[in-house]
Amino acid sequence: MNKPRHIAIIMDGNGRWAKLKKLPRKEGHKEGANSVEAVVQTALKEGIKVLSLYAFSTENWARPKTEVNYLMQLLTDTLSKFTEDKYKDVKLVFSGRRKSLPIKILNKLDEVIKATAGNKKITLNLCLNYGARQEITDAVNKILAQGKRKITESDIEKNLYQNLPAPDLIIRTSGEERLSNFLLWQAAYSEFYFTKTLWPDFKGGDLQKAISAYNQRDRRFGAR
Ligand code: IPE
Ligand code: IPE
Ligand code: MG
Repeated sequence: MNKPRHIAIIMDGNGRWAKLKKLPRKEGHKEGANSVEAVVQTALKEGIKVLSLYAFSTENWARPKTEVNYLMQLLTDTLSKFTEDKYKDVKLVFSGRRKSLPIKILNKLDEVIKATAGNKKITLNLCLNYGARQEITDAVNKILAQGKRKITESDIEKNLYQNLPAPDLIIRTSGEERLSNFLLWQAAYSEFYFTKTLWPDFKGGDLQKAISAYNQRDRRFGAR
């Protein structure tokens, strides 16, 4: 069986989930955080090695301040859970720009990254204040700062936020079929899986369905 090593998810549809239920948007985000917990546990059981989660984009700052503040608090609370025993096999890493993130969430991030650094089964790559154009721009600037004047693909690879294998499978929930500035470099040969299911409704069984769909794909990498 053809198991994806790295799955990346664009967790979308919290607002629409709440709207359908005539609830405030924050209720959608809250239930979305429960999906994160369910999906991490299922990814662990399925033997996935890397799970990237798009939690907040560099463009999401344009949302109303109350929503942004709510999301930052919810993310901080969710991060706290990753030091609990049920996450003892989960290593947390961060992709994004630290600049602009509130100090409270940065401190929590650093604490959890340190506490989970020795965990081995799965790497959870939290993409927070993340934008792929910014990631590539930041990588190029890091290389220039090293004094290089000619840049190779491998230089860029090595200077991305995290040195992880490229995602085999990128999932987007909520029926939207776009990348929204997610992993533009890394997605060169990824398989895509779009589902109409809204993120707060996406649980372990939905992840298993996406993995089964991936198993049917024939990845050719341009070679045949
Ligand atoms: C995803 O849900 C959460 C974030 C982008 C932070 P949305 O809040 O984008 O939900 P919709 O797209 O409005 O339904
Ligand atoms: C993408 O969702 C970002 C995250 C899921 C964190 P958005 O809801 O922000 O994307 P657009 O605006 O529909 O492209
Ligand atoms: Mg959205």
